[in-house]
Amino acid sequence: FSSRRRHTRFKCDWSSDVCSSDLKIEVFEGDNVEILVKNRLSEPTTIHWHGLLVAPEQDGNPHDHILAGEERVYRFNLPMGSAGTYWYHPHPHHIASKQVFMGLAGAFVVKSKQDALSDLVEKDLMISDLRLDENAQIPNNNLTDWLNGREGEFILINGQYKPKIRLATNERIRIYNATSARYLRLKIHGANFILVGTDGGLIQKPIYKDEIFLTPASRVEVLIQSSKSGEFKLESLYYNRDKMMVQEEPKTLFLADIILENKDISIPDKLRELPRLEEPKSFKKIIMSENHSKMMQIMNSKDDNEIKAALASMFLMNSKTYDLNRTDLISEVGVVEEWVVNNNSHMDHPFHIHGTQFEVISSKLNKVVSKPEFRALRDTINVRPNEEIRLRMKQDFVGTRMFHCHILEHEDLGMMGNLEVKEYHLKH
Ligand code: C2O
Ligand code: CU
Ligand code: CU
Repeated sequence: FSSRRRHTRFKCDWSSDVCSSDLKIEVFEGDNVEILVKNRLSEPTTIHWHGLLVAPEQDGNPHDHILAGEERVYRFNLPMGSAGTYWYHPHPHHIASKQVFMGLAGAFVVKSKQDALSDLVEKDLMISDLRLDENAQIPNNNLTDWLNGREGEFILINGQYKPKIRLATNERIRIYNATSARYLRLKIHGANFILVGTDGGLIQKPIYKDEIFLTPASRVEVLIQSSKSGEFKLESLYYNRDKMMVQEEPKTLFLADIILENKDISIPDKLRELPRLEEPKSFKKIIMSENHSKMMQIMNSKDDNEIKAALASMFLMNSKTYDLNRTDLISEVGVVEEWVVNNNSHMDHPFHIHGTQFEVISSKLNKVVSKPEFRALRDTINVRPNEEIRLRMKQDFVGTRMFHCHILEHEDLGMMGNLEVKEYHLKH
């Protein structure tokens, strides 16, 4: 390893630990990272480095299980320019959602030695949710969980229920939605957010917001703005994502008390110059849909296996359910592509792709085209029913990548595809 680069080594003991910032991994751009993972579960697992530009064979694909009792070392280098707010979680075939709701996930921060906000103290708020049964055990998914994604009743921040959190207005706060399926609309009563970053790092200019919308798997960097110190309530407002088979009362959820200290801060007007990808040379079309033809069978059956089988043909990516060994799409290394992602279903689905950060170019809903409010790098984007989103991206490594709905139950039920990234061919 070259001497200018840090070399970082971590150990992850995948037994049962609650998702919290204790499990945070923090590295610098340019670092070579080695992470030893010991699988002490009684089933296979992997760790996927969500959002990071890591080679496919190191990215915890469901094709590369770490079997029960085994271990492996993940090795990768984090390219310059990749500073941002990421996370890691298991990605084994069919059982990713369970391993995540049991608590296996952690924050992964890639820092820059010098960015516009690198002098600030950092805090992490990792939001997960937990369900407990009457014996205080974590129960399996029920039918509505499989249909809509699981939302645990206890919303935790860094593993704590309704905590008091000390923050200051001059702190750089990274917020993670590590839930399987809960959509968050964060609001602090009496204070505002200053949005400074998204999944893939700083945005170009700070943006003032009184609410932060965070779909499953998304992250932001914010500062909190308030004219006075004091105690403020952090809440999540209701979001209607058109769940199946449930009638919901719109309700606001209390998440935490923020004990905020007002400190002087001047945030630079310019945070970063975001590189612009060239015009796309290749196009991909994605359709997320649902097949409801087995709904009656699901509702009427008493046989768990029959229900499972019927559910496993319900959530579709380009009309198919996931097959580990099928190539669904092919891309070439370094070629800029436009992905047009459609949601032809009745429910919101957050679309995610591995190994890259994309830019949202536009969205079309009910024939109205809109441009995003600001440029940003993301790896997960919500797609509303009947919405069509245009993304620009490229892949930097040869190998297999997944793209999927990040409601983890939908992913496990097969709302996922394989992208085969090949060597660049000169014929262009
Ligand atoms: Cu958060 Cu396929 O990943
Ligand atoms: Cu991912
Ligand atoms: Cu989905």
